[in-house]
Amino acid sequence: MKHIQPARRTENIKYAVRDIILVADQAKAAGKKLLYLNIGDPVPFGFQTPNFVTDAIIAAIKAGNTGYAPSPGTNAAVSAIRRDAEKRGIKNAQDIYVTTGGSEAIELAMTALLNAGDNLLVPCPGYPLYTAVLAKLEAEANPYYLDEENGWQVDVEDVKRRINSKTRGIVIINPNNPTGAVLQRKIAQQLVDLAIEHNLVVFSDEIYDKLLFDGQEHISLASLSKDVAAVTFNGLSKVYVGPGLRMGWGIVSGPENVVGDYYRAIQKLTRARLCAPHATMAAVPVALEGSDPHLPPMMEQLKRQRDITHEMLSEIPGISCVKPQGAFYAFPRLEYKGPETDEQWCARLIREKGVVTVPGSGFGQKPGTKHFRIVFLPNETILKEAYSNIREFMAGR
Ligand SMILES: Cc1ncc(COP(=O)(O)O)c(C=O)c1O
Repeated sequence: MKHIQPARRTENIKYAVRDIILVADQAKAAGKKLLYLNIGDPVPFGFQTPNFVTDAIIAAIKAGNTGYAPSPGTNAAVSAIRRDAEKRGIKNAQDIYVTTGGSEAIELAMTALLNAGDNLLVPCPGYPLYTAVLAKLEAEANPYYLDEENGWQVDVEDVKRRINSKTRGIVIINPNNPTGAVLQRKIAQQLVDLAIEHNLVVFSDEIYDKLLFDGQEHISLASLSKDVAAVTFNGLSKVYVGPGLRMGWGIVSGPENVVGDYYRAIQKLTRARLCAPHATMAAVPVALEGSDPHLPPMMEQLKRQRDITHEMLSEIPGISCVKPQGAFYAFPRLEYKGPETDEQWCARLIREKGVVTVPGSGFGQKPGTKHFRIVFLPNETILKEAYSNIREFMAGR
């Protein structure tokens, strides 16, 4: 047989979060002890999926829910998501679809909206799934830069300047991965107004919505106007500590005459892939209608780890760090001048000090700036060791 040439659309797909593992594996094979601050999964760090989630799934399997589910999701899961959307102030949810992780909800919503050559406003820094899917759809990423000087809030003027005739929507990640910023109400309202004015679909990624520090308020963007076309993404991966359960959903909201054809296109795609994991859907009503007893102790621990992260990194000469307000990420800035890229810096940090982080370039960052992403899920002892290793590493430069 002749050599098999992969499709061109795969050439630009990068995924720094997983790509860095190649460097880490080499260092490990060479005998280096590694401290992993790169994985956005609470489970390997000792946080447990709550029993009420796992019990519901096991009971559903035992009850025989192992056949296909309806394509949009079971009635019980869809109704629970609808009631939860209403509680968040999303009054005009038109369609709800349950998916294999939040990732599939995002991919289906993008696939149903974007033609080749269209563009989507994506936050930089932001979670790299959006640019990966855009590459697959042969659509363009239209980056807008979050304002580091203003706690990584969205700079609405910057967004405004970037809208053009091919712009179909805007992604907002709130709380943001990798910065941990939580969107302020005033800015959220300005973004919704802008989306309405320019006919943009708002993709509101709220997968970290209940992981908030310091009394922060979380706002569902779709709740700010009944006129805005929005898809709100959420799931069990982060707040319910179950990323491997692969359970997510999308909520399409807006006036029926605006979003009707769009959600019917999403429905076609959901039918074509049959359904999301059937038994796992049994956990959705239990999670959304419970009182989240696992969250207070989890947030207390995460807050301590967030504080250590912010304090220890801010004290290192050559590093500055905006204090995260939500999720479990920090996105410190490297202040050094010189030719070393953040990718090279991260690779050297792994090889010399065994600390695994992800280069900022993997999330998009303002040209000329260098950052790295830290996951502060590991316990205090590991974090302290990692940050003192980073201190030594910077001192040795
Ligand atoms: C902002 C954001 N959206 C979506 C996802 C994907 O979620 P899921 O694991 O439910 O597919 C992640 C995972 O890290 C994320 O950080």
